[in-house]
Amino acid sequence: MEFDVKDLNLSADGKKKIEWAQADMPVLKGIMEEFSKKKPLEGATVGACLHVTSETANLAIALKAGGAKVSLCASNPLSTQDEVAASLAKDYGISVFAVKGEDNDTYYRHINSVLDCRPQVSMDDGADLISSVHSKRRELIPDILGGTEETTTGVIRLKSMEKNGVLEYPIIAVNEAKTKHFFDNRYGTGQSTIDGILRATNVLLAGKKFVVLGYGWCGKGVAMRARGMGAHVIVLEIDPLKAIEAKMDGFEVMHSSQAAQVGEIFLSVTGNLKVIGENILSKCRDNAIVANSGHFDAEIDLNYLKKNSTGVKKVRPFVEQYQMKDGRKINILAEGRLVNLGAAEGHPASVMDMSFANQALSVKYIFEKSSLLEKKVYAVPAEIDKNIAALKLASMGITIDTLTKEQEDYLNAWELGT
Ligand code: ADE
Repeated sequence: MEFDVKDLNLSADGKKKIEWAQADMPVLKGIMEEFSKKKPLEGATVGACLHVTSETANLAIALKAGGAKVSLCASNPLSTQDEVAASLAKDYGISVFAVKGEDNDTYYRHINSVLDCRPQVSMDDGADLISSVHSKRRELIPDILGGTEETTTGVIRLKSMEKNGVLEYPIIAVNEAKTKHFFDNRYGTGQSTIDGILRATNVLLAGKKFVVLGYGWCGKGVAMRARGMGAHVIVLEIDPLKAIEAKMDGFEVMHSSQAAQVGEIFLSVTGNLKVIGENILSKCRDNAIVANSGHFDAEIDLNYLKKNSTGVKKVRPFVEQYQMKDGRKINILAEGRLVNLGAAEGHPASVMDMSFANQALSVKYIFEKSSLLEKKVYAVPAEIDKNIAALKLASMGITIDTLTKEQEDYLNAWELGT
């Protein structure tokens, strides 16, 4: 079995981490047990490009239990947990190609190593694997039954491929599942982003002016949690509807030119590029902290910083301080990459439980139903989504009410009036 990890000797720590995460992933564990018995993925080859964390490890283990041959590479050069990668390779027989801090060439070499396993199902978080298939490894397309995509940014890229008629196989957009984005994007990104900022800087959030750029599900989560820590949260949006929502949720909403003057911490989660660009970087106060939790590092205009600074030094792990020509200092966290995975450990297992339950069941769905699927981006089937919600609730020991027959009839009746 091939693999490329930092150091196999880290595996004992990795195994403990994987087991620790598993204890908080009851839905995925249930799926794994079911997969072990029924082997729905017998003979399948799965290639995954996901953040190599202890939670992803449990997903890979579940797929393997279902009979799949799994190979895994990182979906971001900075998000790999090296001890987890070592344990996956050594203890679980999974072909992992991932090293934290790998350079761009290694990142793409690792994607190619996964593709060399000739996957029938591709799994992405950000669409780099599928983009490589479509641009450089087209010979693999005839064997691919379908793929899954984990994140908003990836789904946007894939929908654009579908619209332009270039998507070559069906995709299940896991991000679109309610049991994914309502929880992972909001509570997962909310908590793990604050965790990443605090681990990197150890700053006090209470009383800080904390600017959140983007008020999607992730931005909502970050704003909510930053407020919970006592920060004064300012939201920037380009969508009038979301801007009103942020205002009515009790946050200050303003234009970037105003926020640039007052913000002390800036955090982007938009999925777009140069969101924190000259508009903010040219004006923000001395010693501002700037981070990103969107999928790509393009959200912060690092080129602007490079051009307008006299130098950059590492002042703490995951903090690079740019000395600007005008005398100010600007601190960039985790090289502008996802701060929650670069400087912390990503979302907690409990929330990834639902996201990865969707992934596991979507892979099974593709394997079983690919002949019925077209070259389109599909939502996760509603039954899968609802079933995961029910299983998660049950795992929390919560039972809820159901409609009585009379209530059901009432809801279905149109004749009844005042
Ligand atoms: N994305 C965000 N958090 C994650 C985690 N803990 N594992 C895998 N992917 C993630």
